[in-house]
Amino acid sequence: MSVSSPIAKKRSDYQQPDFLISHVDMVFHLDIQKTRVITTCQFSRNGEHNRPLVLDGESITLIKVVLNDNLISDYDVNSEQLTIPTTEDEFTLCVETVINPEANKTLEGLYFSAGAYCTQCEAEGFRKITYFLDRPDVLAKYDVTIYADKARYPHLLSNGNQIDKGQLDDGRHWVKWQDPFNKPSYLFALVAGDFDLLTDNFMTQSGRNVALELYVDKGALDKGHHAIASLKKAMAWDEQVFGLEYDLDIYMVVAVDFFNMGAMENKGLNVFNSKFVLADAESATDDDFFNIEAVIGHEYFHNWTGNRVTCRDWFQLSLKEGLTVFRDQQFSADMSSPVFNRIKNVQIIREHQFAEDASAMAHPIRPEEVIEMNNFYTVTVYDKGAEVIRMMHTLLGADGFRKGMDLYFARFDGQAVTCDDFVQAMQDATGIDLSQFRLWYSQSGTPKVTVSDEFDLSTGRYTLTFGQMTPPTADQKTKQALHIPFRFELLDEQGVAISDDSVPELKAKMIELTQDVHSVSVSGLNAKPTPSLLHNFSAPVKVDYAYTHQQLSSIILYSGDEFARWDASQSLYSRCIHNLATAPDSPDNALFDSMLDSIGGVFALADTNPALAAAMLSIPSFETLSQQVDEIQVEALYHAQRSVRHLIATALSDKWLTLYNNQVVGAYQYKADDVDKRRLRNLSLSYLVQGDATQASELLHAQFSQADNMTDSLGALKAAQYGKLEQFDQLMVQFEERWRHDPLVLDKWFALHANMERSDILARLPLLLSHEKFSLDNPNRVRSVLGSFAFYNVLGFHAIDGSGYKFLADYLLKLNSVNPQVAARVITPLTQWQKFDPKRQELMRYQLARIADCKELSKDLIEKVSKSLN
Ligand code: ARG
Ligand code: ZN
Repeated sequence: MSVSSPIAKKRSDYQQPDFLISHVDMVFHLDIQKTRVITTCQFSRNGEHNRPLVLDGESITLIKVVLNDNLISDYDVNSEQLTIPTTEDEFTLCVETVINPEANKTLEGLYFSAGAYCTQCEAEGFRKITYFLDRPDVLAKYDVTIYADKARYPHLLSNGNQIDKGQLDDGRHWVKWQDPFNKPSYLFALVAGDFDLLTDNFMTQSGRNVALELYVDKGALDKGHHAIASLKKAMAWDEQVFGLEYDLDIYMVVAVDFFNMGAMENKGLNVFNSKFVLADAESATDDDFFNIEAVIGHEYFHNWTGNRVTCRDWFQLSLKEGLTVFRDQQFSADMSSPVFNRIKNVQIIREHQFAEDASAMAHPIRPEEVIEMNNFYTVTVYDKGAEVIRMMHTLLGADGFRKGMDLYFARFDGQAVTCDDFVQAMQDATGIDLSQFRLWYSQSGTPKVTVSDEFDLSTGRYTLTFGQMTPPTADQKTKQALHIPFRFELLDEQGVAISDDSVPELKAKMIELTQDVHSVSVSGLNAKPTPSLLHNFSAPVKVDYAYTHQQLSSIILYSGDEFARWDASQSLYSRCIHNLATAPDSPDNALFDSMLDSIGGVFALADTNPALAAAMLSIPSFETLSQQVDEIQVEALYHAQRSVRHLIATALSDKWLTLYNNQVVGAYQYKADDVDKRRLRNLSLSYLVQGDATQASELLHAQFSQADNMTDSLGALKAAQYGKLEQFDQLMVQFEERWRHDPLVLDKWFALHANMERSDILARLPLLLSHEKFSLDNPNRVRSVLGSFAFYNVLGFHAIDGSGYKFLADYLLKLNSVNPQVAARVITPLTQWQKFDPKRQELMRYQLARIADCKELSKDLIEKVSKSLN
């Protein structure tokens, strides 16, 4: 780990591999501390050269090297590489290594946790298992044989199909797997343990039967049904929408409690964080059910976008991740409410991706320089990457996009390719010129589109002018004009969309911005229209237009685009909040009246479009608000946000109570109507706790004690927390007693404690860390305490004495030597100091400098800390 000055790799330095591998044979003798791995590969020299074979390897012990059946010793081995001096063009190399899965707390490579063996190889974890050309453009077929004690590890799994198995006299058994598809090493997986197994099957559109197997912790079988049902929906959806069928006879999913991320798409053998598999009504919320469907979909969709066509190098990560996120977003939208899904996607961009752009970690969706690849599994690569794919979908249309996808697979199936290859396929399939569009891959930052307008009453001519500008980012000073699909419409005084077929942009309801400035004119109008801008968030940009309050209200009521209606509601709330934050003593009453008026009208939507109503009745998060200002005034902004919420709660208290009482739901089912009702009900409760305290506390108590599901229990707890009700502590005690044996529910309990607004929060955090169920080794736990605190406990983390920052830094210094990947995630809020006041900037940078001073700092943290201190 201790790399003093790690060197950044550059995208522009890409070179083809010196050697290729056609076949890999691996034999694993599993042992908790001494697992023996024998890897035999068929190599061939790639091109004419006489360079030696250089293999990657880390944290493994080399036992022996056999080249073409001869034991050799003239190799060179160091902590990162094994160099074999050979001049042969074709040869067989057998390498034997020993690894210690139990000591591996990084959860990368092969590790042992909670009684089972499990692997995580993306991005560069395979080199912790054996010496290899550990890069995604080396594709090979694998045969894997696993030996282990039969009683303790009855299930021995790897990629592909099981082709043989047997027993030994000493209590061990073995299983041999063969994956018929070429794959890069990052898609390798091995799992061994004692699990409960849920089986099902799926008939593909061409009539092949696929066995589905879900492996979960003993006793958790009942919690696997939703995941299996989700998998079948995803398989059917990919056939219907993209014509893509699954390609093996078996699809396995394993749920584990110790996992650095959400899940991993290993060929035929997905490994999941149990958080994204296990659910039942009592222990999982509607959001959990939603996320399981989304992540199961995401990993399944990778089988084509990621596995069949993979990345040439890791700079191309968005090739598979941006595309697969886009696909999972479309899937989720089709399974429930499109507008609600779109809002969720946009919130991630506005809360987290815009923040990344504004920080020292700013990078394009295809990064140019990387020290530690694990640091680039970011909201930019994933979520902005998905927005870039979505813009192509918008520009090409659904049919054009599908043609592009078909061509992409026809050209590149079985290959490791680049983002450019993808865009080229989209362009060639449709004839639409995407040359300027490619800039989205190389340019970082959040573009700003400034819109202004002019109306000439005497001629009836209205002109709308769009200017685009991307401010400089930490990684890139100069920016160029991008190709931006910008959807919009014009509303007349009655709120009706103005149509004029002689204006192409109005007809298309979209203007393609390609230059610094564009304008559109319409003639023959009687009055100045209201522009309703950036429909469906057609591009990941910020829009600046000086709406009147009246115009926002009219968009809220009349826009033909549901997303735009929501967006206008958020603008109105944001205005109120910023107004109160900057002028607490002289609020703009007209603004507040118009906000309350329009919001009052939204309640009527609760029956016809409850998902949209719930979103429109929710005010913007602190994180979203933060991205709307140049400098975040922590206390002022936080209290203004609370006050506006309080105002909405009290001014409309009757409406909240009626709304609450109207949401009658029967026994728990995860289905759209009920989810919407529970969402509205819990939203109402969260407002009601700010009104009449006695009434609220009765409602809340009744809900908590009668709930047959986690959504309502947690809804009551969150409302009690937000309303600072006295009951909160007592309910939390009850909750802990009931759920202390369920790790996923306990994570929610830890998170609720960690993001509580209370003056003694820093004295309470150490208690959480010393809780008998807390463990530094478990990423979910670390995220629920440290992550919740640092990301969401605004007043605690940003305490003006710097204690919140120090607390995080102290902890990260410990986590650094245990699990660098997780440490480098949780440090994010500290690296985003740029938007805070000078005093806080200094305090945050001071803690970053303390971390930088650590002698044994991981590459992961070195990269983030050094960038942030520059
Ligand atoms: N490919 C996985 C997914 O998005 C995530 C892998 C994350 N890997 C990492 N080293 N952070 O589905
Ligand atoms: Zn992915």
